[in-house]
Amino acid sequence: MALLRIPEENRLLRTPEEVRDYLAPYGIHYEQWVVEGRVKADPTAEEILTAYAPEVEVLKQRGGYVTADVIDVTADIPNLQAMLDRFNKEHTHAEDEVRFIVRGHGIFHVHPKDGPVFAIEVEAGDLINVPAGTQHWFDLCADRNIRAIRLFREKAGWTPLYTGNNIATGFQPLCFGPNYLPGTAAKLETLPALSA
Ligand SMILES: [Fe+2]
Repeated sequence: MALLRIPEENRLLRTPEEVRDYLAPYGIHYEQWVVEGRVKADPTAEEILTAYAPEVEVLKQRGGYVTADVIDVTADIPNLQAMLDRFNKEHTHAEDEVRFIVRGHGIFHVHPKDGPVFAIEVEAGDLINVPAGTQHWFDLCADRNIRAIRLFREKAGWTPLYTGNNIATGFQPLCFGPNYLPGTAAKLETLPALSA
């Protein structure tokens, strides 16, 4: 389940309804898909696309997307930091950034033109659609592990268009999901400044 933080307002939203309702005015669509029992352990990309084909087909029809693929990022892949550095600076895209998280975690920061920066932490089961033109940046969480279905109208449209604003350097890509950093996880209850 996604967590949404608004650092400037010291707010943390932690229910799917709160997250969905906060994002809607920004044109960001959020929903959850069932992941339990959908794929076997260590599925291939093809098996993932087959398992989620019904939901993906609905998205394609709704958003005009024509292709879907699966990205798989783990801490041990070569040039990981160089890959992450492409997306951890504020940028936009010429088309929507649509991601369904199959495994792992990630954090989107969104910089609206008429509101405070907010961070959306996503995990398995979360679908998010960041519309074309939205100022944002993306980081992995400390586990550096994510697998996601991506949908495209044209893959070229997903090239990052950098805004030149270095605002991202003022926001730590801290993820607070309680269950995936054994021994070091910051429990939400111990973060009163974030749970106001
Ligand atoms: Fe992006």
